[in-house]
Amino acid sequence: MLQELAELRSVIEKDLAALQQDASADALEAFRLRHLVRKGTLAALTERLRDVPKKDKPAVGKELNALKVLAESAFKRLTEERAAHAESVPTLDLTLPGRTFRHGAKHPIRQTLDEIIAIFSSMGFAVSEGPDIEDDFHNFEALNFPADHPARDMQDTFFVNAENADGSPRHDVLLRTHTSPVQVRQMLNQKPPIRSIMPGRVYRNEAISARSLAEFHQVEGLYVDNGVSLAELKGTLVAFAKQFYGSDIRYRFRPSFFPFTEPSAEMDITCFLCGGKGCRICKYSGWLEILGCGMVHPNVLRAGGIDAEEYTGFAFGMGIERVTLLRSGIDDIRLLYENDVRVLQQFV
Ligand code: DAH
Repeated sequence: MLQELAELRSVIEKDLAALQQDASADALEAFRLRHLVRKGTLAALTERLRDVPKKDKPAVGKELNALKVLAESAFKRLTEERAAHAESVPTLDLTLPGRTFRHGAKHPIRQTLDEIIAIFSSMGFAVSEGPDIEDDFHNFEALNFPADHPARDMQDTFFVNAENADGSPRHDVLLRTHTSPVQVRQMLNQKPPIRSIMPGRVYRNEAISARSLAEFHQVEGLYVDNGVSLAELKGTLVAFAKQFYGSDIRYRFRPSFFPFTEPSAEMDITCFLCGGKGCRICKYSGWLEILGCGMVHPNVLRAGGIDAEEYTGFAFGMGIERVTLLRSGIDDIRLLYENDVRVLQQFV
């Protein structure tokens, strides 16, 4: 029996040495199941203590007890050390769901703009831009607005406090009310042929509602060269509309008036929501107005430094927000400016 106890001691000591290296929960449990439970090694020897001859009992009992104390105290110590360690080092929970990375995406207005730019680029139009803060000359005067034209009214235009070099106040500085002033800058900067589209932000002093904001976007178009005709204007805009709105749309040009074009027109397409049958969006007319256009007025060519006897041109302008809303089925323009991810996510 003493012999067996000596063997068990060496087994337990070996196991404890291994646990010093790896006190994992599994290794500790294996040690407990092997030695400390009711069917373990120590209990088995304790059971057999009855059969040990009386004279040997004290020595065997003593050694058996010493082994039990050794195994139990070492097991207790290692278990406690492990628990303390687990508390200080946060455990990695591999079952937690991962953190999702949110990708940014183009804003819906930018998506519409990019589509329009791509279509006109394929037809040979360059892209140019002008300043948001303009002056009366570029925004109105050079575009043939009469001095008393209502569009110059304080109610429509945001004027900007500005000074001349000598410190005296300037009264002609404003936030552009349309992208048409970029036409003037383009003509002053470049000799014909000019074939450009000019996207940008514009500002009007309007009450904010579901249908209108005080700032929005437009794309302007300008083509000036020898012999540019109304037929080319129509051909270009029809080609654009079919690519942008679908090849099966029908369209019409309605006579209109703008100071900077003569003749002037507005282009309508069949309402793409009801297919022309009439609905709330097209106000039961079956038609949606998509842009204004016309042949550049000779006064505008001249203000742009271009010989109006030699050159002709066409121009057009369209709003971006309304198109974006119509195509996405959103019914409040303010949603495009609030940057609520629940809205923006739908455009990814
Ligand atoms: N500037 C006009 C507006 O803001 C839009 C427009 C109409 C631009 C006709 C043009 C044009 O270039 O030819 O409503």
